[in-house]
Amino acid sequence: MSSVIPNRPRIAVIGTGYLGTTQAVCLAALGFAVTAMDVDQDKISSLRSGLLPFYEPGLPELLQETLRTGRLQFSTEFERSADADVIFLCVGTPQSADSSAADLHFLDAAIAEIAPHLAHKCLVVGKSTVPIGTANRLRTLLQSAAPAGPLVELAWNPEFLREGHAIADTLRPDRLVFGVTSEWSLRVLRGCFAQPIAAGTPVIATDLATAELVKAAANSFLATKISYINAMAEVCEATGADVNLLAEALSYDSRIGGGFLKPGLGFGGGCLPKDIRAFAHRAAELGVGHAVVFLREVDAINQRRRQRTVDLITEMACGDLQEVKIAVLGAAFKPDSDDIRDAPALDVARMLHQAGARVTVYDPRAMPNARKSYPELSYAPTLASAVAGAEVVALLTEWEVFRQADPAVLGALVERRNIVDGRHALDAAAYQAAGWDYRALGTPAGPPARLLEPVMPEPARLSQPVVPEPALASAIEPV
Ligand code: UDX
Repeated sequence: MSSVIPNRPRIAVIGTGYLGTTQAVCLAALGFAVTAMDVDQDKISSLRSGLLPFYEPGLPELLQETLRTGRLQFSTEFERSADADVIFLCVGTPQSADSSAADLHFLDAAIAEIAPHLAHKCLVVGKSTVPIGTANRLRTLLQSAAPAGPLVELAWNPEFLREGHAIADTLRPDRLVFGVTSEWSLRVLRGCFAQPIAAGTPVIATDLATAELVKAAANSFLATKISYINAMAEVCEATGADVNLLAEALSYDSRIGGGFLKPGLGFGGGCLPKDIRAFAHRAAELGVGHAVVFLREVDAINQRRRQRTVDLITEMACGDLQEVKIAVLGAAFKPDSDDIRDAPALDVARMLHQAGARVTVYDPRAMPNARKSYPELSYAPTLASAVAGAEVVALLTEWEVFRQADPAVLGALVERRNIVDGRHALDAAAYQAAGWDYRALGTPAGPPARLLEPVMPEPARLSQPVVPEPALASAIEPV
């Protein structure tokens, strides 16, 4: 990797959480000189020595590589923003403690930290997910506090990266959205992302409010898709239909598509749940709450899947969870992450514990975080020790290691072969063949519907291949 490529803007990144660190490392990998800043001295020291404070596949290697080039630096001194041409704001916008609104105090604090040092023409770029109208407010704040006044411009470039795919989503995003107030800002942003743009990434250049709204709308749509299929799972449960086959059948319709149509325990994490709530809250403030009132139902469907999972486990425990030994496989809100924010798996584990069950949790990466937030639960160091003696096994985060486990080997370790697959991650037939009672959300108990064979002998005319008449064949052949 070469050192800094000349005549490129110098970049600062404010906030070294998940988003900021990924952004800083990826921009340094693209050849920019980057200084990433944070108030957290421990985090900065750890990053300086090449250690990531969270888990993300591939990122530790890229961090160490970019540190070696000298292009990437970490600092707690916000005056370093005085040297930057472009400053990315990558601080968190969590849910407020007392309402569903977004808590913007990290963003306000970031502006207050950097503004006094901005005595030169530069571009400040917000990446965090924010309520519509925030960028305009921050722009006024920034320009009134910065010595350079209106020479300091503000743009909004929402980030769509998924945990577990952070590098690919940053270096090869599906699209780039630039909310700008001038041609100059647009040119600067195009320069920062010249490489993905040259590789064909589409750019949507727009105003600040549209850019903010794209992110809220995208996450709301994704959450709605997940809750839609999970609502169908509820209907399947009442009818004996199979939600997996239903989702597959829907996915072949190119107007619907198969992405985010995986039924199960539903969505969690630091983004989708809080983003739909903050969006609904902001829409109500703007007097258009009725337009997104469906998001409340999206949230409610999602929460119901957690209770339904507890109910299914209770059924397997013959209606009483008291002292029942349950192995919970998974703690992270999704695989390939150690993030436990609003993790459905841990929420279910907590509910089971509160109902009197003896819950043991195992997760390949998220155990330290889980232990800190849920000290009341028990934790096992391995998959085998988690399931040992269990009366019900609940797979709640679909890590590959759980998919690969041999049902016969697990079966020899448990007290009773009861398994609830909260993520449709396991081979139901293989578990049933190994003597397990396999249950999942939205699919009937028993063999998967796809495997059902006709039980009655059928007339030959029903099993003969149908050959089109020659005169019609050309009409129905694809041209
Ligand atoms: C999400 C958005 O995808 C991303 O664009 C945005 O920048 C941040 O929020 P992330 O929270 O990392 O990303 O995870 P994502 O992969 O979207 O999954 C969110 C949750 O939905 C997980 O709990 C996952 O298990 C669940 N999910 C996802 C489903 O239940 N079914 C699906 O089909 C897809």
